[in-house]
Amino acid sequence: KKNLTTQLAQVTFDGPLLNASGIHCQTKEELADLAATSNLAGIVTKSATLLPRTGNESPRYYDLAYGSINSMGLPNLGYPFYLDYVQQETAKPTILSVAGLSAEDVLEVLMDVQDSDYQGITELNLSCPNVPGKPQTAYDFVATRKLLERVFAFFTKPIGVKLPPYFDLVHFDQIAAVLNDFPITHVNTVNSVGNGLVVDVEKEQVVTKPKGGFGGLGGAMILPTALANVRALRQRLNESIAIIGTGGVTSGADVFAHILCGADMVSVGTQVIKEGLGVYDRLTEELQAIMAEKGYESLSDFRGQLREL
Ligand code: DOR
Repeated sequence: KKNLTTQLAQVTFDGPLLNASGIHCQTKEELADLAATSNLAGIVTKSATLLPRTGNESPRYYDLAYGSINSMGLPNLGYPFYLDYVQQETAKPTILSVAGLSAEDVLEVLMDVQDSDYQGITELNLSCPNVPGKPQTAYDFVATRKLLERVFAFFTKPIGVKLPPYFDLVHFDQIAAVLNDFPITHVNTVNSVGNGLVVDVEKEQVVTKPKGGFGGLGGAMILPTALANVRALRQRLNESIAIIGTGGVTSGADVFAHILCGADMVSVGTQVIKEGLGVYDRLTEELQAIMAEKGYESLSDFRGQLREL
């Protein structure tokens, strides 16, 4: 058995694997399942908003051979539930995910987190693609800087940000320049690839109801995009900012690839829905086997060591 421990914001995790926010983490029952899941090193809660939300109309998730498309619309029980949960959970470290429909909402929620007894990690979701009429904040570099200035005017606890995928090297430079000016603990990259459109040719129609069928893409089809974002951000962010790699993981080799690109931790979304919570045991066994074959003893032996030609 290899040493798979990893660190994020001074918290030690027993392994690199997390659930992606939104995956099996909305209700008390789902969160209890995560607490009992072996080889899941920490629990990320569903992105919580100021008020409870039922989310978008169904169908709002569709499974594809090569991944998934979703337009959930941030269904959640409201932040007090999740803030309460993370203060009670003791089985594993937690990451409290927070989202807002406005800057004011975000600040109100974070003020309560600041004032609470919760000392764990918070993650600000700046990248939900699925709330009609609400842009993905992190695609607006000026708005992101302004929001973080307001957050760090009062917030002193560990906090990171969830980012959308970027596709232009200039955009990596721009978001890194913003984030490097703040004491953030980590970035979680990537959220779903926003506003894809899946077409059912037989029915000649879309597969999800909200937003005319546009939705966030996840799963195997986004792995290269996720790896590019982990790599490009690792090359640009301050060393003090850790990276959670999210996107496209279906195998231990994919976990290995995320870490090779610079990820400190790796989260799994679509594949949990396809395979169930047992996926974390399989991914861990596969990662262990790859490490054994290559002669690596710990994740730091290969983290960020991707070679160029
Ligand atoms: O793909 C996503 N779906 N990303 C988010 O940030 C939120 C979620 C939803 O609830 O729509």
